[in-house]
Amino acid sequence: MDQNIHNLYLDPFVCNARFAVPLDFPVHFTNDALHLTNRLLCDAIARREPGRRHRLCCIIDAGVASAWPSLPARVAAYVDAHHTRLQLVAPPMVIPGGEACKNDPPLLQEILGTLQRCRIDRHAFVLAFGGGAVLDLVGFAAAITHRGVRLVRMPTTVLGQNDAGIGVKNAVNAFGCKNYLGTFAPPWAVINDLDFIETLEARDKIAGIAEAVKVALIRDRLFFLWLESNASALARFNRPTMAEMIRRCAELHLQHIAGGGDPFETGNARPLDYGHWAAHKLETLSDHTLRHGEAVAINLALDTRYAAMKGLIAEGDAERICALLEAVGFRLWHPSLVGRENDGGLGVLNGLREFREHLGGELSIPMLSAIGTAIDVDEIDTATVADGIAWLQQRDAGRCG
Ligand SMILES: NC(=O)c1ccc[n+]([C@@H]2O[C@H](COP(=O)([O-])OP(=O)(O)OC[C@H]3O[C@@H](n4cnc5c(N)ncnc54)[C@H](O)[C@@H]3O)[C@@H](O)[C@H]2O)c1
Ligand SMILES: [Zn+2]
Repeated sequence: MDQNIHNLYLDPFVCNARFAVPLDFPVHFTNDALHLTNRLLCDAIARREPGRRHRLCCIIDAGVASAWPSLPARVAAYVDAHHTRLQLVAPPMVIPGGEACKNDPPLLQEILGTLQRCRIDRHAFVLAFGGGAVLDLVGFAAAITHRGVRLVRMPTTVLGQNDAGIGVKNAVNAFGCKNYLGTFAPPWAVINDLDFIETLEARDKIAGIAEAVKVALIRDRLFFLWLESNASALARFNRPTMAEMIRRCAELHLQHIAGGGDPFETGNARPLDYGHWAAHKLETLSDHTLRHGEAVAINLALDTRYAAMKGLIAEGDAERICALLEAVGFRLWHPSLVGRENDGGLGVLNGLREFREHLGGELSIPMLSAIGTAIDVDEIDTATVADGIAWLQQRDAGRCG
């Protein structure tokens, strides 16, 4: 090697690149978002460049398209009515919804191909209507196209509107692992249209309530008390009560993302992952027959029982939490809780290892120290978890007679 070059690199030297990128996005709450006189969507798209005509391509969850058959035509009519500011570059694309779409590499490829054919560039928009699964998939496609094109999300499920659709993450499943491939990519804007909730199956209306119970438990005791007093209205899907539950849950998630100091989850602490270490594994073990929210509800019950057995919270509080989850319609048991994997061990306990790997090697699991307050624990006593699972099974047998 040239002696001068050799010496150059022996001389210690560092160039630091330090910068902050300001990020912000609005999450709007409305109804009848595609009514021709509702300007919210148009204004949200044009919010930084009001004088331009914005190109957009639209992707719709098939579950939404079948419940709202006029939706593609309504999108086209809306864009037409605002043609000086919006331009639809292709007819809306309808893709299969539900968790299966996150397990489908050819579908991801098809979406990427559509974005390429539509010439979606870094100033054009992807407008996505769907549940959390479709939003995760389309968000991932948008994030890797040209290293990130603008995405406007229109979440159409309870869980989409109060959690999955309003944050900064997207993902698809890979190698048998939930959310293995994904990026952190804030959307351009989110529009929560409450009308979509009306056509959800009952189990999907209930599923989203799990995230509200979760965030109340770790952040907001008063919200937990509100959920308790409104449990029967929620179980009946009373519209104003559902609207308030969704809004408060979304607000608490956004407060954490924007004000928690770690929006892209570089550290170990993940309070919003409370009740998720087993949930992700249960979804996989149940072959995705359990909805995400249903798995979270079971995980919340398991973790509160664990916390009570470890003396972190009072028995009475653990009971209140399980009772609330049951009152809004969750079943706190699923056979996959006792499913065994090839190593002969309880599959759900392997979820701990996967969660640790996901965090980056060191385990940090949020647990309650009171209703409304979480602490992090760095180890989990698996024998106590197994006792908790047995307790849930017994409780369920008692309830189901
Ligand atoms: N990115 C994140 O931060 C984040 C957070 C939480 C959850 N998630 C992900 O969200 C997914 C779960 O989302 P979900 O609970 O919304 O369920 P989902 O997306 O699986 O949708 C459930 C079903 O409802 C249908 N559907 C959607 N909207 C409808 C409507 N308005 N009317 C009738 N049917 C409709 C879908 O086609 C699907 O069959 C999981 O993959 C989970 O990992 C992501
Ligand atoms: Zn979740």
